[in-house]
Amino acid sequence: MLEIADNGRTWILSGPASSYALHLTEGDELLHLHWGPRIGLADAEALAVRPLPDYWPFESPLDGREEYPVEGGPRFVRPALSVRTDERRGTEWTFEAYERAEGGELRLRFRDGGLAITLHYRMRHDVVERWVSLDNEGPAVELLRADSATWTLPDREGGWRLSQLHGRWAAESRLVRAPLTYGEKVIGSRRGHTGHQHLPWVALDTDATEERGEVYGCALGWSGSWRIAVAELPDTRVQITGGAGYDDSGLLRLEAGESFTTPVFAGLWSEGGFGGASRAWHAYQRAYVIPDADRDRPVLFNSWEATEFDISEEQQGVLARRAAAIGVELFVVDDGWFGKRTSDRAGLGDWTPNPDRFPGGLKPLADYVHALGMQFGIWVEPEMVNPDSDLYRAHPDWVQYQPGRKRTELRNQLVLNLAREDVQEYLWEQLHALLSSAPIDYVKWDFNRCFTDAGWPDDPYPQRLWVDHVTALYRLLDRLRQAHPNVAFESCSGGGGRIDLGVMSRTDQVWTSDNTDPLDRLAIQHGFTQIHPARVMAAWVTDSPNTQLNGRVSSLRFRFVSAMAGVLGVGGDLAEWTEEELAEAGDWVALYKEIRPLVQRGDLYRLRPPEGGLSAVQYVLDDEAVVLAWLQAQRYGEPVPALRLRGLDPAASYECRETGEVHRGAVLLHHGLRTGLRGDLDATVLRLRRI
Ligand code: DGJ
Repeated sequence: MLEIADNGRTWILSGPASSYALHLTEGDELLHLHWGPRIGLADAEALAVRPLPDYWPFESPLDGREEYPVEGGPRFVRPALSVRTDERRGTEWTFEAYERAEGGELRLRFRDGGLAITLHYRMRHDVVERWVSLDNEGPAVELLRADSATWTLPDREGGWRLSQLHGRWAAESRLVRAPLTYGEKVIGSRRGHTGHQHLPWVALDTDATEERGEVYGCALGWSGSWRIAVAELPDTRVQITGGAGYDDSGLLRLEAGESFTTPVFAGLWSEGGFGGASRAWHAYQRAYVIPDADRDRPVLFNSWEATEFDISEEQQGVLARRAAAIGVELFVVDDGWFGKRTSDRAGLGDWTPNPDRFPGGLKPLADYVHALGMQFGIWVEPEMVNPDSDLYRAHPDWVQYQPGRKRTELRNQLVLNLAREDVQEYLWEQLHALLSSAPIDYVKWDFNRCFTDAGWPDDPYPQRLWVDHVTALYRLLDRLRQAHPNVAFESCSGGGGRIDLGVMSRTDQVWTSDNTDPLDRLAIQHGFTQIHPARVMAAWVTDSPNTQLNGRVSSLRFRFVSAMAGVLGVGGDLAEWTEEELAEAGDWVALYKEIRPLVQRGDLYRLRPPEGGLSAVQYVLDDEAVVLAWLQAQRYGEPVPALRLRGLDPAASYECRETGEVHRGAVLLHHGLRTGLRGDLDATVLRLRRI
């Protein structure tokens, strides 16, 4: 809901539980008024007439109070907008008009000479979506920095705490929480993709717990380089500024008639602690971001850990038969099916099946997989090329490179310059032909190296390659989805290197991490679900001992229960699994299918974090709940604590399907459910139904 004051200078957007208000002064300064619990227009108007502090000359009363601080004028904070023309630098805008657009969107239009600057606000559930569009109608303007939004937190005593999700390859989305201190904390990626190092999300609280207290969160929808800066200003005010690009060295140059729209930077206020905030983020993403989120994702098999590059049609057929027998619904052939791709040294760029491995193309295998009752999927990495490929031999200038410098190879590959139209067209033709050549239902879209030599020798403004790569990727995905509406896409980047709201709005799930160790995964999943829902969080059961990382031995039970907390997949070498293991796997897959609606569409409660002992999550949908619990290590023979459940009706009774016991809701909520777990690396699934 959008309300506007009579004078047309105070605006308030409200969701079911929260409001966001802003005000334009007579001097056209756009001030932040409120972000928090629901208030009315009269409250916002009362806030609007509060005088600004009298701070001159070494501080600015505008700092920490503006919605979108531009460079120039009496401001010392990090500017969200920094532009220059051939004549001058900075912005001095005048307000032109506001507009109430479709879907309750508020647009505020400003102008500085030929540059029109529009600030967009839209409330969806309790998430405020903000972005900015810049339309140049005058002489060329260089956008050094054009952030999507600046968020302002209210004054609070006691200091703010910052939560972030940090990581690296095979160790993504690990949650850290630390007090914020004066100055700036900057996270981001200067790698050309979202990166394994940080998810583009921060949360700030003062004293929240998992289920109580005020939490502010901000998440950026951009799959290239990005930056979020959290600043605690000298008077303890806190602002969060974020957008595309890491440095301020230039984003784009807009000639007359050209435009740039920033990605969306979404913000959420919640009073329900970290758990309440995550549930609100999840509900928002299921409703507005993830395509077809009400359609549950199938159980998949992926061949990567089983076979790596050593694949053949016959061997994939054997795996497919075993996968079908345990109840898998989607069979995915990973890397190694195309070109001369028998190792990571060759083939990227040549997206036609390897005739030695697939003499009749992919269709015979796809048909076979379909005949087994499963969908068929394949792996691609379209943005890359191996120097040893027909594509590179034909077009060595299609990659990102700096003239006269070495072309840095990582994993023996170079990055294609997707900003080039000929490259975009080539990829469209190759992928469209591929998806038309066989009944393919699913594409795992990988990206396995960062930008290093992001140059474009023939372009007058090569810097634009960073932004244009991402917009070209988005266009290509959109075009493919439109032409092949029944094909689902997975975003992968060496595991979880490209997970953000931007890519999630055009893919169906994401590959959470190349780390498939079921214990490490608990922490990775704990972090991931702070912002994203289980509905997109792909998780595979692989072999024990773990082949990729650490040799850890764990039971099939522990591996399955860990992976069942997300979109279940199987990635072990089924050809080596015993009959007993396959039978047990079949039971787990069947159980997952039963609880899948709760996991993929229910409300998630993180009951206990994975910190060494007992950890658990609970999903609730309508009258049903399911608890997934893991015991890492039982120490000193101490009894394993009961799990206090959440989201139940205290006045109702619940039957546990596993034990047949009937529990009173109030008892489960206040005294807990016993899990029966013991020893090391034990796990269980407990289903409850209201009776
Ligand atoms: C990285 C991915 O994360 C893996 O799952 C696998 O697809 C490999 N790439 C294949 O090269």
